[in-house]
Amino acid sequence: MKVLALNSSSRTGDVSKTEIILGDLLQGMREAGAEVEVVELRRKKIRYCIGCFTCWTKTPGVCIHKDDMTREIFPKYRDSDLVVLATPLFHFTVNAIMKTFIERTLPIALPFFEKQDGATRHPYRHKAPPVVVLSVAGFPEEGVFDALKFYARFLFRDHLAAEIYRTSSEMFLHSTGSRKVSEVREALIQGGRELVQSMKISPETLKRIHKPITTFEEMAPLGNLMWQTCIDEGVTLGEAQKKKIIPRPDSIENFLMLMRFAFKARKAADAKMAVQFNFSGQAAGECYFIVENGTFRTDLGTADHPDLIIESPFEVWMDIMTQKADGQKLFMEQKYSARGDITALMRFKDLFGN
Ligand SMILES: Cc1cc2nc3c(=O)[nH]c(=O)nc-3n(C[C@H](O)[C@H](O)[C@H](O)COP(=O)(O)O)c2cc1C
Repeated sequence: MKVLALNSSSRTGDVSKTEIILGDLLQGMREAGAEVEVVELRRKKIRYCIGCFTCWTKTPGVCIHKDDMTREIFPKYRDSDLVVLATPLFHFTVNAIMKTFIERTLPIALPFFEKQDGATRHPYRHKAPPVVVLSVAGFPEEGVFDALKFYARFLFRDHLAAEIYRTSSEMFLHSTGSRKVSEVREALIQGGRELVQSMKISPETLKRIHKPITTFEEMAPLGNLMWQTCIDEGVTLGEAQKKKIIPRPDSIENFLMLMRFAFKARKAADAKMAVQFNFSGQAAGECYFIVENGTFRTDLGTADHPDLIIESPFEVWMDIMTQKADGQKLFMEQKYSARGDITALMRFKDLFGN
């Protein structure tokens, strides 16, 4: 089977969620014996359709433009056994690069009007290849794909082989160790195998591919904190990710949320500690976390028997946590105090990473 994957993401490599998710699907396809070619559309010269209809009359089936679409991509598209259209969701639909490609497939149709299933259509000049639509979106609700789903089904109708709509895309960059993300990625590989074997993806595999991995309540506070940190530091999200900038909590609730996000359960199997924070300053108040049997609990208020008590101005602890200040140096300078089992403090880096 000859598979053509057209990727319209404007990002590349390990920062493109479209590429990560498409990569898993294609891995499964290759494993099942398909010959896969990936074309990154952003690297190609594809001019806009100018609506001249030359491809329908003067040069039937051939576009007036002489660019990468006419020379390379359209012939490959027409002759493939399966085409994967992979696009990030932009403003609730395909991005402009993908839309430009789709409009330039006009030569595949004939100009005549036909009624098909009650709707006006143009018949195909050539047999249209089966298509898989794959899209990734930042938002967590499946409904974010409603407009694209409608569009894909109306456009590709009976040659729509499968649809893959992956929400919460950011999780695929930042939670590579997470079980939920790994399960989705395994399902994507399985989906690729099934497509080659049967030209479709089973409902069970699709359910695993589309399984929710975050909720608004989990995603939004952390996302908002990250955006605010980027604004405060005057950096783009990409720069923040490259520099591994840590979002800076502005409240005790956000501090605990970030700790929950950062907690590495795998590293905590043998750890047992209750850590109390008594904050003064910008966000005064008390809170604690408990690590036990690989689990992590947080709450406001005071722990019953804390192993370690940290007393600090909130902003000092946030400086340390976001690596703006050296914790050991500030400890020596008595900018904060730590009482009790100091070895617990030594394990923070291990349990929470950066
Ligand atoms: C211009 C623009 C529009 C976007 N529109 C949406 C949107 O409507 N819904 C959504 O959930 N995410 C939206 N996003 C987020 C992207 O879909 C998401 O980050 C995706 O994973 C990007 O894929 P990439 O990493 O391959 O570029 C938008 C991003 C950009 C830059």
